[in-house]
Amino acid sequence: MQKILITGGAGYIGSHVTKELLKRGDYKITVVDNLSTGFEETIGRLKKYYGDFEFRKFDLSDWKQTHDLVAEGFDAIIHFAAALVVPESVENPLKYYLNNTANTANLIQAAVQNGVGKFIFSSTAAVYGEPASIPQTGIAEDAPTAPINPYGHSKLMSEQVLKDAAKAHEGFKYVALRYFNVAGADMGGKIGQSTKNATHLIKVAAQTALGKRDRMYIFGDDYPTADGTCIRDYIHVDDLSLAHLEALDYLEDHQSDIFNVGYGRGYSVSEVVQTMKEISGQDFEVVVTDRRAGDPAALIADSSRLRQKTSWRPQYDDLALICKSALEWEKKL
Ligand SMILES: NC(=O)c1ccc[n+]([C@@H]2O[C@H](COP(=O)([O-])OP(=O)(O)OC[C@H]3O[C@@H](n4cnc5c(N)ncnc54)[C@H](O)[C@@H]3O)[C@@H](O)[C@H]2O)c1
Repeated sequence: MQKILITGGAGYIGSHVTKELLKRGDYKITVVDNLSTGFEETIGRLKKYYGDFEFRKFDLSDWKQTHDLVAEGFDAIIHFAAALVVPESVENPLKYYLNNTANTANLIQAAVQNGVGKFIFSSTAAVYGEPASIPQTGIAEDAPTAPINPYGHSKLMSEQVLKDAAKAHEGFKYVALRYFNVAGADMGGKIGQSTKNATHLIKVAAQTALGKRDRMYIFGDDYPTADGTCIRDYIHVDDLSLAHLEALDYLEDHQSDIFNVGYGRGYSVSEVVQTMKEISGQDFEVVVTDRRAGDPAALIADSSRLRQKTSWRPQYDDLALICKSALEWEKKL
């Protein structure tokens, strides 16, 4: 049985990956989270519905406590804990460099010093910045990285730390997963995205459909896309979670790697809003307003590397299903 340390497991994505590991059943899991944006209730729901694990509440900025925990011995670390609000990262960059980059470097050091051989890192499509052009097949892992905000930089710097550490320390291997737009909720209906003040389009549309918001906004309808609104690659959180299990298996007999995780096709903001209206049966108010700084017109993953090198096969590549699962969870909050 493998011992896995999960940071940020009380948050949105970390809780869904913890669920998948518990469902598979082969793992002894410890979750660490400071509950800054995660929820103790999520830990309780995971334990109640999916199985037992250990939960430690502390902040990864406590480097000594982090080292002491890692020294207890783990086969792998899956590292979700981070701050991830892009505008906040522009206003308060040091929070991002400290929490996302410095704490990650410390965690990597603890892993190397204690012989943890596998490290799975939550990276992001934000490392690509605003690509000048995106091929029909989507953006590939070897495309230039050029983040346009401190959040993206903090993640790309962590990738660099991982790359250098893996080069210098034999026995330490990593997979960085670059997530595109993560959405939806546990298909088992027990957990979901509870993030406060979320800006994620599908969650916002679900909240508006349920009357939790009076209206929602579309930021720009004059982009060079078919309907003028931005296009993104939305991936169901359960499919994303399974990519982490694939990454763990992959490191058994492969070297470190970086994988995009998306479906390889996009939907426009207008299409998402329309889909939410249809599945909810609510014709809510949508206001078109100015573009936001730093929103590329289209961002679609080329996820062929992940499909070719692992047995990851998405099951929920269906926008209506993603919207429905988000809506059903939102009703429970
Ligand atoms: N949500 C997305 O669409 C998306 C897209 C790309 C990448 N990511 C990455 O995925 C990861 C998880 O994101 P999420 O959407 O689940 O966010 P989240 O805020 O729901 O989860 C982050 C978790 O980490 C915890 N945490 C943060 N800083 C900590 C610290 N210093 N010590 C201990 N715990 C700490 C929080 O309490 C929270 O439970 C992040 O690394 C994020 O950058 C997310």
